[in-house]
Amino acid sequence: MIKKGLSASAAGEVSLGGEISVYRLGFGAMRLTGEGIWGPPKDRKGASAVLRRAVELGVNFIDTADSYGPHVDEELIAEALFPYPANLVIATKGGWNRPGPNQWTHDATPAHLRKAIEGSLKRLRLERIDVYQLHAPDPAVSFEASVETLAQLRDEGKIQLVALSNVTQEHIERANRIVPIVSVQNRYSFADREWDYVVDYCEQNGIAFIPWFPLGAGKVAGEVLNRIGQAHHASPMQVALAWLLQRSPIMLPIPGTSSVEHLEQNVGAASLRLTEVEYEQLSEVRELVATR
Ligand SMILES: NC(=O)c1ccc[n+]([C@@H]2O[C@H](COP(=O)([O-])OP(=O)(O)OC[C@H]3O[C@@H](n4cnc5c(N)ncnc54)[C@H](OP(=O)(O)O)[C@@H]3O)[C@@H](O)[C@H]2O)c1
Repeated sequence: MIKKGLSASAAGEVSLGGEISVYRLGFGAMRLTGEGIWGPPKDRKGASAVLRRAVELGVNFIDTADSYGPHVDEELIAEALFPYPANLVIATKGGWNRPGPNQWTHDATPAHLRKAIEGSLKRLRLERIDVYQLHAPDPAVSFEASVETLAQLRDEGKIQLVALSNVTQEHIERANRIVPIVSVQNRYSFADREWDYVVDYCEQNGIAFIPWFPLGAGKVAGEVLNRIGQAHHASPMQVALAWLLQRSPIMLPIPGTSSVEHLEQNVGAASLRLTEVEYEQLSEVRELVATR
């Protein structure tokens, strides 16, 4: 496993809207909550230790959402890290309700988003949220109405930067007519390339792309990851993250974990460089999956 000289800074930086730069290896805090992304963690001290270690390792971008827990994740971040280091960027999200464990229901109405942001500000102990992401477009609400609400909240000084999640290129274009969009967060990995064209669009337009579910699922993906990992004494997760970092300079992976050991491994991926051949072998996995 790569563990020497561990620092998220080895991944280089990405700009968020030309206003803030963060290292290209962030931390996704979703799995710190209880099972089903519901309730408190079994090991609250352990969750705090993971967050503190992430910051120690140079991670300066943490992703969360009001719906993780719900509320618990934002509370844990404040509990572990407040007062925050000056360079730490916390990106939260709103637009879902949580009726129970593993249950998610849309609500991106202007009234809900306004209330959600007030709650996030309070729990995160902030006067302004660095990056606020619309968690997902709500099919029952005008997309423009959701984005206009975020633009108004930015004008009111409650949000610094506006971002989107789970969107198409068309959503990004429509939102950008209302307010500058600094990042897009969609499911993406070497084996899961549905949003390739959105990654390319983001790269062409200076928008950061934040992939979730970086590992890629399935037997074929696992075999290729293992083979390349062995050549570098690296774990499959490190290889999957290294592929993402090589895919585009605007890529900002946010691997999540509830374990300090896994966190250290994941940050180690910042300094892993794949050969061109290895990069291509991973890129071809989606075709191999399709033909089996
Ligand atoms: N925008 C969205 O709709 C959306 C959806 C899902 C997630 N997210 C965000 O994206 C982040 C990443 O999400 P994700 O789905 O990719 O991952 P994740 O939900 O954060 O979980 C990653 C899983 O992989 C395991 N893991 C992490 N590092 C590992 C390692 N080095 N070796 C072995 N196992 C490891 C973790 O288990 P251990 O705890 O045991 O390490 C965890 O179960 C989330 O934390 C969240 O912030 C956003």
